[in-house]
Parts: sequence; structure tokens; C-alpha cells
Amino acid sequence: MTSVVVLGIFVADLAFKAPRLPVMGETLLGQGFAIGPGGKGSNQVIAAARAGGSAGIITRIGSDTFGEMARKAWAADGVDTSAVIEDAGAPTGAAFIFVSTETGNNAIIVESGAAARLSPADVRAAEGVIANAKVFMTQFEQPIETAVEGLNVARRRGAITILNPAPALPVDDGIYGLCDYVTPNETEAATLTGLPVENEDQALAAAKAFVRRGARNALITLGEKGALLHGGAGTHLVPAFKVAKVVDTTGAGDAFNGGFAVALAEGQSPVDAVRFGCATAALSVQKPGTAPSMPTRAEIDALLAGG
Ligand code: RIB
Repeated sequence: MTSVVVLGIFVADLAFKAPRLPVMGETLLGQGFAIGPGGKGSNQVIAAARAGGSAGIITRIGSDTFGEMARKAWAADGVDTSAVIEDAGAPTGAAFIFVSTETGNNAIIVESGAAARLSPADVRAAEGVIANAKVFMTQFEQPIETAVEGLNVARRRGAITILNPAPALPVDDGIYGLCDYVTPNETEAATLTGLPVENEDQALAAAKAFVRRGARNALITLGEKGALLHGGAGTHLVPAFKVAKVVDTTGAGDAFNGGFAVALAEGQSPVDAVRFGCATAALSVQKPGTAPSMPTRAEIDALLAGG
């Protein structure tokens, strides 16, 4: 049985390091560049696979160089690609990523490419893969109607459903009723609820808003403050692990979600699963890149054990 199946996109991440973003009309000299596998869905499935889950992805890629990069990345971590569609009519997508040399924080423009053509029919064609999964997870980088279909199929097939609503886009509240867990970061939670999310009390108010809209649980990631879980699993603030030096925060949310999903698939309690996700994220921010920064199970277990 596949423990975690992810519906989402793969893109090539083009990451530029600089002290700041250029202003319009300005050319700025960079301080580093890397190209590597990215896309929230693909990052999450790679995080899950490295964290010890058997993991599969439902997506579309182009028949091109970036598509080959995707296949190599998934093969290296044993990701099930039986629900990957190669689309000759569209290129694999790409993301521009600015990484601050001062803080390690990032800003992203993502073009989903072939994965923007992922349809509800593609999801229905992958029903067999979803039926085999303990946990189903999706985001909003492919069309929202496709995410909704994935959540519907997963619910019907008895999987635990996780919606990582990133990027935060306007959605019909009905989607939350399909979610066992909705996992925005602070910014996404603020955009989606219309409430300020700048401290723990405000995060709890936003989490309550997601639950009122139908989510069984809201899990709001709070960066270096950890993550707040609220809903059927109770209310818990799980602190983040201390990190000596943050190198690159890009993909930290994906690391968290991938780790959290694997722990849930293993039957860990929701709070332990959040802790597992926090450990996965803390390790990922200490390395550059997104998918390449995802930690192994041995590294996560060592951090959880206090090593
Ligand atoms: O969450 C980080 C990811 O968001 C990057 O890999 C980029 O591709 C965008 O999808």
C-alpha cells in the first residue's frame, strides 16, 4: 500500500541568491545560482519518500529537459510515477526563486507549465492510486477544481486528506469540508480567512475560522515559532526545533507537510505527526534548495531523539 499520494506539480527551480530583490529597471549582480527539482507537490512527495513513506505523485510534465529532471529526481527517491502523465503539448514548468543572502528567506514566481493542465479527469484516471493510499495531499499550484476532485475521491476511498492551500487563492468554502487537515502558513491563513495572523492568539482565531468552514483540523505553520493544531485533534502549539543557521527556507513548508503526512500514515498521533513535520522542516532549512534539502528518516529520527 502506498502510504502517501500527492496531487501537485513539478517545476524546475531556478534559485538566485542576492542581498535584495532588484527594483524595476535595475540589474543586480547575484551571489549564487542553482537549478534543481521543485514544485510544491513534487517537493512534498520527495520529502515523504525520504522520511520513510512509500509515496506516489499524480501530475503532468512535458516531454523536455525539465521533465527528465523530474523523472530522475523521483527515481532517486523511489517515488511511484504510475500516475504521471507526459504531456507533449505543454512544457514542464519553472519557478524563479529569490533567496536572500541576509536572512535565507525567499520570494517565488511559479509557472506551472504542463501541470496547469491537470484536470479532474486526470484525477479520476488515477483513482486506483488514491484508493491504495493512507494519506492524500494536495495544494493549489494546479487548478483548484482538480484539487477538489482529488479530495473528493480520497474522502470516498477512505484516505486521510490534507490540503496545503498554497498559494493562497480564493476558494469556495465547500472545499474545507473535504479536509481532515488544512495546513496554511501564517500568510496563507491570513489571506484565506481575512484575519490578521501575526501572533499565536490570532493564529488560533484563524484556525477556528477554518474549522467553522468545515475543516476537521486546521494546522497553521508559524515558522520559527512552530505550528498550531486546532480542531478534532484538540488545540496544541507544537514548538519548532532550534536551528543554528538558516541557509534557505524555500521548501520548508513542503518538508513539514511531507513529514507530517508520513507520520500520519504510520498511525502516529496528530501531535506527534506535527512534531515529526517540524523536525523535517528544521532539517530542510539548513541546506540549500527545495527537494534536494529534504532530510532522510535517519536524520529526522536523530533530531527527534535529541541528537
Ligand atoms: O514551496 C516551494 C516551492 O514553491 C518551490 O519549489 C517552487 O517551485 C514553488 O512551487
